[in-house]
Amino acid sequence: MESIQSTSKTVTIRILRYKPNRIEPPRYQDFSLHAEPEMSVLDALEKIRLEQDNTLMYRHSCHHSSCGTCACRINGKERLTCITRVTDLAEDTITLTPLAGFEPIGDLVVDVTHFYKDYSEDWSYIRRSENTSSQPPAGISHFTRFENCIECGACLSACPITHKNDTFLGPAVLSALNNELKKSSQKSEDLLSIAGGERGEHLCERAVNCSRVCPTKVYPARHIADLRRLLEKKNLKKTANPE
Ligand code: SF4
Ligand code: FES
Repeated sequence: MESIQSTSKTVTIRILRYKPNRIEPPRYQDFSLHAEPEMSVLDALEKIRLEQDNTLMYRHSCHHSSCGTCACRINGKERLTCITRVTDLAEDTITLTPLAGFEPIGDLVVDVTHFYKDYSEDWSYIRRSENTSSQPPAGISHFTRFENCIECGACLSACPITHKNDTFLGPAVLSALNNELKKSSQKSEDLLSIAGGERGEHLCERAVNCSRVCPTKVYPARHIADLRRLLEKKNLKKTANPE
Protein backbone atom coordinates (compact mmCIF):
# COMPACT_ATOMS: atom_id res chain seq x y z
CA MET A 1 0.00 0.00 0.00
CA GLU A 2 1.49 3.30 -1.05
CA SER A 3 0.52 6.88 -0.62
CA ILE A 4 1.85 9.98 -2.34
CA GLN A 5 3.47 12.28 0.19
CA SER A 6 4.90 15.65 -0.63
CA THR A 7 6.68 16.21 2.66
CA SER A 8 10.12 15.11 3.65
CA LYS A 9 10.51 12.38 6.23
CA THR A 10 13.12 10.43 8.13
CA VAL A 11 13.32 6.83 7.00
CA THR A 12 15.27 3.70 7.70
CA ILE A 13 16.81 2.12 4.61
CA ARG A 14 17.28 -1.57 5.48
CA ILE A 15 19.67 -3.23 3.04
CA LEU A 16 20.52 -6.90 2.71
CA ARG A 17 24.31 -6.81 2.86
CA TYR A 18 26.45 -9.51 1.31
CA LYS A 19 30.12 -9.68 0.45
CA PRO A 20 31.74 -12.99 -0.51
CA ASN A 21 34.04 -14.16 2.31
CA ARG A 22 33.30 -11.00 4.33
CA ILE A 23 29.61 -10.71 5.00
CA GLU A 24 28.31 -14.28 4.87
CA PRO A 25 25.59 -15.30 5.34
CA PRO A 26 23.84 -12.12 4.14
CA ARG A 27 22.46 -9.87 6.89
CA TYR A 28 20.39 -6.71 7.08
CA GLN A 29 21.93 -3.38 7.94
CA ASP A 30 19.90 -0.27 8.73
CA PHE A 31 20.77 3.25 7.63
CA SER A 32 18.80 6.25 8.79
CA LEU A 33 18.43 9.28 6.56
CA HIS A 34 16.26 12.28 5.96
CA ALA A 35 14.47 12.04 2.62
CA GLU A 36 13.45 15.18 0.77
CA PRO A 37 10.21 14.93 -1.28
CA GLU A 38 11.90 14.23 -4.64
CA MET A 39 14.54 11.83 -3.34
CA SER A 40 14.56 8.51 -5.19
CA VAL A 41 15.65 5.26 -3.59
CA LEU A 42 18.73 5.46 -5.82
CA ASP A 43 19.45 8.96 -4.46
CA ALA A 44 19.15 7.49 -0.97
CA LEU A 45 21.65 4.75 -1.81
CA GLU A 46 24.08 7.31 -3.18
CA LYS A 47 23.70 9.44 -0.07
CA ILE A 48 24.35 6.44 2.15
CA ARG A 49 27.40 5.48 0.11
CA LEU A 50 28.78 9.01 0.26
CA GLU A 51 28.03 9.77 3.87
CA GLN A 52 27.74 6.52 5.77
CA ASP A 53 29.28 3.48 4.08
CA ASN A 54 31.41 3.64 0.96
CA THR A 55 31.48 -0.15 0.63
CA LEU A 56 27.80 -0.30 -0.35
CA MET A 57 27.31 -2.00 -3.73
CA TYR A 58 24.41 -1.27 -6.10
CA ARG A 59 24.09 -0.71 -9.83
CA HIS A 60 22.87 2.28 -11.78
CA SER A 61 23.64 4.19 -14.91
CA CYS A 62 20.99 6.41 -16.49
CA HIS A 63 18.98 7.58 -13.45
CA HIS A 64 15.84 7.76 -15.62
CA SER A 65 14.47 4.25 -16.20
CA SER A 66 16.30 3.61 -19.45
CA CYS A 67 19.22 1.34 -18.67
CA GLY A 68 17.51 -1.22 -16.42
CA THR A 69 20.57 -1.68 -14.23
CA CYS A 70 19.15 -0.40 -10.94
CA ALA A 71 16.34 -2.95 -10.52
CA CYS A 72 16.08 -4.57 -7.13
CA ARG A 73 13.36 -5.54 -4.69
CA ILE A 74 11.93 -2.67 -2.69
CA ASN A 75 9.79 -3.85 0.19
CA GLY A 76 9.53 -7.21 -1.56
CA LYS A 77 8.52 -5.92 -4.98
CA GLU A 78 10.71 -5.57 -8.05
CA ARG A 79 11.17 -1.91 -8.97
CA LEU A 80 13.67 0.52 -10.42
CA THR A 81 15.37 2.44 -7.62
CA CYS A 82 15.90 5.47 -9.86
CA ILE A 83 12.20 6.18 -10.37
CA THR A 84 10.86 5.08 -6.99
CA ARG A 85 10.53 8.06 -4.68
CA VAL A 86 11.25 7.42 -1.03
CA THR A 87 8.38 9.64 0.03
CA ASP A 88 5.93 7.76 -2.20
CA LEU A 89 6.48 4.62 -0.14
CA ALA A 90 4.07 4.37 2.75
CA GLU A 91 6.54 2.52 4.96
CA ASP A 92 9.10 4.35 7.09
CA THR A 93 11.40 1.35 6.86
CA ILE A 94 12.33 0.59 3.25
CA THR A 95 13.80 -2.85 2.76
CA LEU A 96 16.07 -3.39 -0.22
CA THR A 97 17.09 -6.83 -1.41
CA PRO A 98 18.69 -7.93 -4.68
CA LEU A 99 16.64 -9.41 -7.52
CA ALA A 100 15.63 -12.98 -6.74
CA GLY A 101 16.83 -15.91 -8.82
CA PHE A 102 20.17 -14.33 -9.72
CA GLU A 103 23.55 -15.19 -8.20
CA PRO A 104 24.51 -12.44 -5.74
CA ILE A 105 27.79 -10.62 -6.35
CA GLY A 106 27.63 -8.16 -3.48
CA ASP A 107 24.87 -6.29 -1.62
CA LEU A 108 22.28 -5.31 -4.30
CA VAL A 109 24.42 -6.36 -7.27
CA VAL A 110 23.64 -9.66 -8.97
CA ASP A 111 25.19 -11.61 -11.82
CA VAL A 112 22.95 -11.07 -14.86
CA THR A 113 24.86 -13.38 -17.21
CA HIS A 114 22.17 -16.04 -17.37
CA PHE A 115 19.52 -13.43 -18.13
CA TYR A 116 21.14 -12.71 -21.50
CA LYS A 117 22.28 -16.16 -22.51
CA ASP A 118 18.99 -17.19 -24.17
CA TYR A 119 18.63 -14.14 -26.38
CA SER A 120 19.74 -15.04 -29.87
CA GLU A 121 22.22 -12.67 -31.44
CA ASP A 122 20.08 -12.92 -34.56
CA TRP A 123 17.10 -11.28 -32.87
CA SER A 124 16.65 -7.57 -33.14
CA TYR A 125 15.62 -7.32 -29.51
CA ILE A 126 17.33 -4.01 -28.86
CA ARG A 127 14.58 -1.54 -29.56
CA ARG A 128 14.69 0.95 -32.39
CA SER A 129 13.46 4.42 -31.67
CA GLU A 130 9.73 4.31 -31.90
CA ASN A 131 7.80 6.85 -33.83
CA THR A 132 4.40 6.70 -32.26
CA SER A 133 3.31 9.86 -34.09
CA SER A 134 3.18 7.95 -37.38
CA GLN A 135 -0.21 7.03 -38.72
CA PRO A 136 -0.87 3.29 -38.53
CA PRO A 137 -1.48 1.59 -41.87
CA ALA A 138 -5.01 1.04 -43.13
CA GLY A 139 -6.81 -1.62 -41.13
CA ILE A 140 -4.69 -1.08 -37.99
CA SER A 141 -6.41 1.02 -35.35
CA HIS A 142 -3.37 1.96 -33.30
CA PHE A 143 0.26 1.11 -32.63
CA THR A 144 1.19 -0.85 -29.54
CA ARG A 145 4.76 -0.49 -28.35
CA PHE A 146 6.22 -3.94 -27.88
CA GLU A 147 9.88 -3.04 -27.68
CA ASN A 148 10.11 -1.25 -24.39
CA CYS A 149 12.19 -3.87 -22.66
CA ILE A 150 15.15 -2.34 -20.83
CA GLU A 151 16.47 -5.78 -19.80
CA CYS A 152 16.15 -4.96 -16.11
CA GLY A 153 15.48 -8.54 -14.99
CA ALA A 154 12.51 -7.60 -12.79
CA CYS A 155 10.17 -10.02 -14.55
CA LEU A 156 12.57 -12.89 -14.09
CA SER A 157 12.92 -12.10 -10.40
CA ALA A 158 9.14 -11.94 -9.93
CA CYS A 159 8.33 -15.08 -11.95
CA PRO A 160 7.68 -18.05 -9.65
CA ILE A 161 8.48 -20.55 -12.41
CA THR A 162 12.02 -19.37 -13.06
CA HIS A 163 12.83 -20.05 -9.40
CA LYS A 164 11.73 -23.66 -9.52
CA ASN A 165 12.71 -24.48 -13.09
CA ASP A 166 15.83 -22.78 -14.35
CA THR A 167 15.34 -24.20 -17.83
CA PHE A 168 12.33 -21.90 -18.44
CA LEU A 169 13.25 -19.26 -21.00
CA GLY A 170 11.38 -16.71 -18.94
CA PRO A 171 9.13 -13.73 -19.66
CA ALA A 172 11.68 -11.32 -21.15
CA VAL A 173 13.14 -13.79 -23.63
CA LEU A 174 9.69 -15.01 -24.70
CA SER A 175 8.61 -11.39 -25.18
CA ALA A 176 11.66 -10.71 -27.33
CA LEU A 177 10.97 -13.90 -29.29
CA ASN A 178 7.38 -12.83 -29.89
CA ASN A 179 8.56 -9.44 -31.11
CA GLU A 180 10.92 -11.15 -33.49
CA LEU A 181 8.12 -13.35 -34.74
CA LYS A 182 6.04 -10.30 -35.60
CA LYS A 183 8.92 -8.79 -37.55
CA SER A 184 10.30 -11.73 -39.37
CA SER A 185 8.00 -14.25 -41.01
CA GLN A 186 10.98 -16.09 -42.53
CA LYS A 187 12.14 -17.09 -39.07
CA SER A 188 8.73 -18.15 -37.79
CA GLU A 189 9.35 -21.89 -37.95
CA ASP A 190 12.54 -21.65 -35.91
CA LEU A 191 11.07 -19.19 -33.45
CA LEU A 192 7.93 -21.24 -32.89
CA SER A 193 9.99 -24.35 -32.32
CA ILE A 194 11.80 -22.50 -29.52
CA ALA A 195 8.57 -21.07 -28.07
CA GLY A 196 6.90 -24.48 -28.24
CA GLY A 197 9.97 -26.38 -27.08
CA GLU A 198 10.90 -27.96 -23.76
CA ARG A 199 11.99 -24.62 -22.28
CA GLY A 200 9.21 -22.53 -23.73
CA GLU A 201 5.65 -21.34 -23.27
CA HIS A 202 4.19 -24.53 -21.77
CA LEU A 203 6.18 -24.00 -18.56
CA CYS A 204 4.37 -20.71 -17.86
CA GLU A 205 1.73 -21.10 -15.16
CA ARG A 206 0.13 -17.71 -15.81
CA ALA A 207 1.03 -16.05 -12.53
CA VAL A 208 1.24 -12.76 -14.49
CA ASN A 209 3.76 -11.36 -11.97
CA CYS A 210 5.97 -10.43 -14.93
CA SER A 211 3.43 -7.97 -16.28
CA ARG A 212 2.71 -6.59 -12.81
CA VAL A 213 6.33 -5.65 -12.09
CA CYS A 214 7.57 -4.64 -15.54
CA PRO A 215 8.50 -0.96 -15.18
CA THR A 216 8.22 -0.21 -18.89
CA LYS A 217 4.90 -1.89 -19.63
CA VAL A 218 6.19 -4.63 -21.89
CA TYR A 219 3.43 -6.84 -20.44
CA PRO A 220 5.38 -10.08 -20.97
CA ALA A 221 2.33 -12.19 -20.02
CA ARG A 222 0.55 -10.84 -23.12
CA HIS A 223 3.45 -11.92 -25.31
CA ILE A 224 3.36 -15.38 -23.78
CA ALA A 225 -0.41 -15.52 -24.34
CA ASP A 226 0.16 -14.49 -27.99
CA LEU A 227 2.64 -17.32 -28.39
CA ARG A 228 0.25 -19.76 -26.70
CA ARG A 229 -2.54 -18.86 -29.13
CA LEU A 230 -0.25 -19.15 -32.12
CA LEU A 231 1.12 -22.51 -31.01
CA GLU A 232 -2.43 -23.76 -30.43
CA LYS A 233 -3.49 -22.55 -33.84
CA LYS A 234 -0.62 -24.35 -35.49
CA ASN A 235 -1.09 -27.44 -33.34
CA LEU A 236 2.39 -27.04 -31.89
CA LYS A 237 1.39 -26.47 -28.30
CA LYS A 238 2.60 -28.84 -25.65
CA THR A 239 -0.43 -29.97 -23.65
CA ALA A 240 0.72 -30.51 -20.06
CA ASN A 241 2.21 -27.98 -17.70
CA PRO A 242 4.44 -29.79 -15.22
CA GLU A 243 3.67 -29.16 -11.54
S1 SF4 B 1 10.14 -7.36 -19.87
FE1 SF4 B 1 9.94 -5.63 -18.42
S2 SF4 B 1 10.53 -6.50 -16.43
FE2 SF4 B 1 11.25 -7.94 -18.01
S3 SF4 B 1 13.38 -7.36 -18.41
FE3 SF4 B 1 12.10 -6.26 -19.91
S4 SF4 B 1 11.67 -4.27 -18.93
FE4 SF4 B 1 12.41 -5.61 -17.31
S1 FES C 1 19.51 3.84 -13.31
FE1 FES C 1 18.95 3.27 -15.33
S2 FES C 1 17.02 2.33 -15.08
FE2 FES C 1 17.50 3.05 -13.12
